[in-house]
Amino acid sequence: MHWWQREDLCYQDGVLFFAGQSVADLVREVGTPGFVYSMGRVLQNLDRLHNALDDADLNGRHSVLYAMKANRFAPLLAALKQSGKCGIDACSPREVEHAISCGFNANEISFTAGSLSRRDYRLLSRYEGLFFDADSIHGIRAWGEMFSGTEIGIRVNPGMGISRDGNERLQYAGDVTTKFGIYREQFHEALAAARDYGLDVTKIHFHTGCGFLTPQLPIWESIIEQCQWFIEQCDSVTRVNVGGGLGVPHVESDQALDLQLWAQALARQFGDKGLHVEIEPGDYLVKDAGLLLLEKTYLERKRDVMFLGVDAGFNIAPEPANYNLPFQPVPVFYQDEPLQTYHVVGNINEALDVWYENARLPDMDEEDFLVLINAGGYSSSMASNHCMRGEFKERLLG
Ligand SMILES: Cc1ncc(COP(=O)(O)O)c(C=O)c1O
Repeated sequence: MHWWQREDLCYQDGVLFFAGQSVADLVREVGTPGFVYSMGRVLQNLDRLHNALDDADLNGRHSVLYAMKANRFAPLLAALKQSGKCGIDACSPREVEHAISCGFNANEISFTAGSLSRRDYRLLSRYEGLFFDADSIHGIRAWGEMFSGTEIGIRVNPGMGISRDGNERLQYAGDVTTKFGIYREQFHEALAAARDYGLDVTKIHFHTGCGFLTPQLPIWESIIEQCQWFIEQCDSVTRVNVGGGLGVPHVESDQALDLQLWAQALARQFGDKGLHVEIEPGDYLVKDAGLLLLEKTYLERKRDVMFLGVDAGFNIAPEPANYNLPFQPVPVFYQDEPLQTYHVVGNINEALDVWYENARLPDMDEEDFLVLINAGGYSSSMASNHCMRGEFKERLLG
């Protein structure tokens, strides 16, 4: 039994199956490098979140906004819209336009971003009903100039962050001052700016980091406690958006996020406040619903390291290199033979183009294909054309 194995991702007679299909067939049909996403898995993840929130004592008031920055593949967005189970968290005018082209209405989209240009504000002003969270006092004023007398959210920064295993690259708040949200010290100035433009602050928003799992839940609750202060300053608040950041296991020793405990912390903090709770997960919905299909290019020992090369580099799935998030390599065919140790590397001329060090895999001499798991979030959406190797295939499975 492999640690990542589950009903829709497992070996059947030595061949890897994903979403009910043989991955050997997928490699032939889709080609490499290629991303395949299981919509069934995305919807299961979404249902699990809704169920945990339903079971917690939140008085039934919650909604899920999918953070589309994680994966904006149009068929996936269209299927999410069809499910009717979530809205969208967007962070650029182009994302809003894309979500609308996939079927979402402007009033199902919440917009949270910073450093917006005049042109960005002009583009956003076309979408009536879009909900705007300002993440700076500048943002409050800019929105107020266009939409005086409307509702607005304020993204706050509680000065405390969270991430998988304390990974600082995934933290948006903490000891170091970041660009995200308004700090306590300036919150009253922010409220005054909103008043100047007749804006009604009806939502407090915070998102302080990504990839957290069960061991980080005590930090999660402390962050929510810190954010209560902001809510207390503002009588008009009816909603709280607690961001995303919910993680999935990347290695065997990762302890999967206990959603019940996560939701119970929300219920403890907000259950009696009469607030509508919004969450905006990206990774949790799509990350473990995606595989990256790869072809082996070479096997060669250099000094004491056996390198296993593949036909794609970190530019099309930057998380392992940028954030030190390992994507477990998994062979398409598996025999129970003695395991070997490989450094799995890509085809980009950069030192950081290493997919996985010391991967324990069966002998890959006879193998032509392998996949990386957890490639459904922040991979294709962050891909670049570095070395002009930015091409890849994408397919949504049922
Ligand atoms: C404001 C905001 N909300 C939600 C998310 C989604 O985070 P995740 O994919 O970790 O759930 C992000 C990610 O960067 C974000 O910046």
